[in-house]
Amino acid sequence: MEKIRLHDKEFTIFLSPAEIQDAVSDMAAKINNDLVGKYPLFLGILNGSFMFTADLLKKINIDCSVSFIKLASYRGARTTGTVKELIGLDEDLGGRTVVILEDIVDTGTTLQSLVSRLRELNPLEVRIATLLLKPGAFSGGIHLDYVGMEIPNDFIVGYGLDYDQLGRNFEGIYKIAAGGVTEPDPAAQAGSNEKQ
Ligand code: IMP
Ligand code: MG
Repeated sequence: MEKIRLHDKEFTIFLSPAEIQDAVSDMAAKINNDLVGKYPLFLGILNGSFMFTADLLKKINIDCSVSFIKLASYRGARTTGTVKELIGLDEDLGGRTVVILEDIVDTGTTLQSLVSRLRELNPLEVRIATLLLKPGAFSGGIHLDYVGMEIPNDFIVGYGLDYDQLGRNFEGIYKIAAGGVTEPDPAAQAGSNEKQ
């Protein structure tokens, strides 16, 4: 499928399923090499990283465990900022090598706050593996250990990523068609209480 339509916008194919799997395989090979004997805990960030986590873990061949967490954001009643609540973490991180699995790093704000929260739980180390990075938007505030691919600052969907909850189910990744908006549509996110 070369083109898809989600809500009011058109998207064209950007990364084929094969290109994505190549990037995932390369990353898995590095992780297998780096973390052998460390019994890492892979922590997928829902919802966006569910496909990436599943595909990466199929290519990991060292002893490891896997779990998922969700970051729900909501507007605090008396604050103007967005408060993020971490849901679902029931593992003991003490002394563990934790590898956060993220679909995409844009500004990096989401991960920055997550990493500092996780560090309070005394892991041995926290590494970050992201399938995609938008260097044009990234603040540089955290170290990214594994990056699958660097991409331009266009809004993309597919392979777990959504446009107002649509598009997560596609095996490929699509970018917004020329003439469309190039940033996440604020109107599409309003009313949704979660960004992931
Ligand atoms: P950050 O905090 O700015 O790095 O935002 C990261 C989160 O924003 C990701 O986990 C995604 O959920 C979402 N996001 C960033 N860019 C895109 C995009 O192009 N398409 C869909 N979601 C995106
Ligand atoms: Mg995400």
